[in-house]
Formats: sequence, C-alpha cells, structure tokens
Amino acid sequence: MIPFKKWFGGGKQQNDELIAKLAADNIPNHVAVIMDGNGRWAQKRGLPRVAGHHSGMKNVKKITMAADAIGVKVLTLYAFSTENWKRPKEEVEYLMKLPLEFFPKEIEELIANNVQIRMTGWQEGLPDYTLKAIQDAIDQTRNNTGLILNFALNYGSRKEMLSGVKRLAQDMRTGKIDENQVDESLFSSYLLTHPLPDPDLLIRTSGELRISNFMMWQLAYSELWFTDLCWPEFSEQHFYEAIQEYQRRARRYGGL
Ligand code: FPP
Repeated sequence: MIPFKKWFGGGKQQNDELIAKLAADNIPNHVAVIMDGNGRWAQKRGLPRVAGHHSGMKNVKKITMAADAIGVKVLTLYAFSTENWKRPKEEVEYLMKLPLEFFPKEIEELIANNVQIRMTGWQEGLPDYTLKAIQDAIDQTRNNTGLILNFALNYGSRKEMLSGVKRLAQDMRTGKIDENQVDESLFSSYLLTHPLPDPDLLIRTSGELRISNFMMWQLAYSELWFTDLCWPEFSEQHFYEAIQEYQRRARRYGGL
C-alpha cells in the first residue's frame, strides 16, 4: 500500500525517499510557517529586498505541494504582520501586489490538487486589489476538501486576542455568554483562526528564534522547529526534515 498521495512536485527521487521515511500515522495536522529571511537572502546575492519576496512567493507553491503530498491538513503561512506596515512604502506595496501575481498563476494547479485557500487577518487596511485577488481565490476553492492553505495576512496575535476579549466581554454584557461558560475552547472561538485546529508544528526560517506576535495562544503546545536557511532556499527536503524531527518529539502537553 502506498501511504501517501502521489508526489506532484516534479517527481524528485529525493523527495520520495524522504517521504518514505515518514510515519504516515504521525503527520502534523496543522503546520504553521514564519517565512523569514527574504530580504537577507536577496541582499546576500546583491539583489533588492523585493527580489527576495518574489523568490519567497515562488516557494509558497513548492512547500504547499510538499505539505499536501504527505497529508498535512492545514498549512498556515505568515505572509504579512500587523507590524509589517512599518516597512518602507515601496516594499509594502510590492508585498501587497504578490497575491495578484500568485493566484492567477497558481490557482489552476491548486484547484487540481483540491486545495482550499483561506485568510487569517484583518481585511481593513489591505488595498482593494489585494483583497480581491485573495477573495477570488477563496471563492474559487470554497468547495474544495483538501489541504487548507491559510495565509496569515495583516495578522497579529496581540491584536487578535484583544479583539476577541472585547467581543467576548460584549457578549457577556448582553447576556449571550455567561462567565461560567468561558473556557479555552470558548475563548478560541473568538479568535480569527477559529475553527482551524491549533498548529502542531511551527517552522521559522532565517535563524531568528522568536515567535514575533504569531498565533501566541494557538502555539501553546506546538512543536517549534527553527532553521538558519532563509525562506527562498527552504526546500521540500528541508520541510520533510522538519516533519521527521517533529515525529521524533514526544508531545506531552504538560503530562508525563
Ligand atoms: C519576512 O522576510 C517575509 C515577509 C515579511 C513576507 C513574506 C511573504 C512571502 C514569502 C510571499 C507571500 C506570498 C503571497 C502570495 C501572499 P524579511 O523581509 O523580514 O526578511 P529579512 O528578515 O531578511 O529582512
């Protein structure tokens, strides 16, 4: 029996060999990635920072297919934080235009692979053209039942928790929710990620050892995996190495 889906990423033997080493019954349901190091990758090559973002965008498709091939259910990619607005205007504009290039180019293959596009983040503040590109992709893949490719865009964890707390307080004031009902599961339902499961594995590229305001509630029991590689050079092989390491970890959730 072949435990995994057919490999769509170019039939590389190396990928097949790495996939064969994975335990098919211990694939993380939700993998989240902080795609860091685009700028440094470009600068090392004497290229403008935005060339790194463009290369990073191309890597999104590769890693999506790699995740899909082994049966990951949700892949969340941190594409733009609520803090990234502080970057130079030209860089922000460039990042905001990437969905306009990415989705028209890739949507056919994403649909062929039954991928569903989602977004976690605030729509307010995003340019109309960015929103439209994403909304079109969400609409076109709404009925797909395979991998959820979730873009964290204009997302920040503190803002998410504060806004959740405010809505919860409002619901308590109006009597919709009683204080005794408030537990972890109820609070989670006030977060933007609801109803997605919490990430099982967080990958951060580029050598930074930080969470950077990303899913701080949801990552409470996630396994963390860091690599010095920058996002544009992070390949399917590295992704499978991270999964292999995940499978070596014993998740105890505070127990023994
Ligand atoms: C961090 O690297 C990366 C980002 C802020 C942008 C990530 C976005 C993509 C990879 C493209 C997403 C694609 C779509 C379709 C939305 P950095 O610039 O902070 O790198 P540095 O730390 O080396 O400067």
